[in-house]
Amino acid sequence: MNEEIIKLEKLTKRYGYGDAESFALKDFDLTIKRGEFIMIMGPSGCGKTTLLNIIGLLDRATSGKYLLNDENVASISSAKQSRIRAKKIGFIFQNFNLIEDLPILENVALPLIYVGMPQSVRLRTASAALKRFHLGEKEYYYPYQLSGGQQQRAAIARAVVSNPEIILADEPTGNLDSRASYAVMDELKRIHEEGNTIVMVTHNPALTVYATRVINMLDGQIATDVKTVTDENLPQPIDVKVKKKKSRMKRRRH
Ligand SMILES: Nc1ncnc2c1ncn2[C@@H]1O[C@H](COP(=O)(O)OP(=O)(O)OP(=O)(O)O)[C@@H](O)[C@H]1O
Ligand SMILES: [Mg+2]
Repeated sequence: MNEEIIKLEKLTKRYGYGDAESFALKDFDLTIKRGEFIMIMGPSGCGKTTLLNIIGLLDRATSGKYLLNDENVASISSAKQSRIRAKKIGFIFQNFNLIEDLPILENVALPLIYVGMPQSVRLRTASAALKRFHLGEKEYYYPYQLSGGQQQRAAIARAVVSNPEIILADEPTGNLDSRASYAVMDELKRIHEEGNTIVMVTHNPALTVYATRVINMLDGQIATDVKTVTDENLPQPIDVKVKKKKSRMKRRRH
């Protein structure tokens, strides 16, 4: 159970050459299992955003291997990377990254364009996602008409609207006050409990209580890596739970 969903081997990201050479990531090894909620911490410039962008196929490593569901995605074309990203990965950013001149309903519906849904279905699906994040009343508001916490909840709705299995969040509470931060964390907790895999960067040690694993980075490498939940106790995806239940029922009948 809980198969390896992401495997990074000797991943290196180098900037510049010769005297100007520097490494954002250096021989970085990491295996992520389905259902983990990983928090990445570490000083500014240690490579956290670089790591997340490479995992999210927004950036490429200079060398090394990146297996996503057993497929080596490091060396495939950008077009293929975009297709995989649209299907499997949802992003949440510190500054929300909502499009200012679109109402939030249309913002949330955007990722569904890439999965090829007709417009009416896109808007219905986006509307349901906004309701899940308690923003049903605000569908036709523009981002500037929402508070920071509400904008981030809309951004979370956008990140999960196409049911990606991996959610990547780069300091999602960095621009929020404490109350809005915990509201956002509660939403992420809910998404995690549904069996999704989350990798989140944070500077706030208080938030690590939500994680099943905390990784501290230093100079493009892992300094410490602590699991607080055993693999058997990670949440299972809903479809796996249903299958398990069915097989249990079958066994009982025999
Ligand atoms: N385009 C670039 N050109 C050169 N160096 C870069 C580039 N992008 C990032 N770097 C360097 O890579 C290193 C890692 O950057 P990264 O943004 O991943 O850090 P971070 O851990 O996310 O920091 P922060 O906590 O401040 O967000 C830094 O030293 C940075 O200067
Ligand atoms: Mg960063």
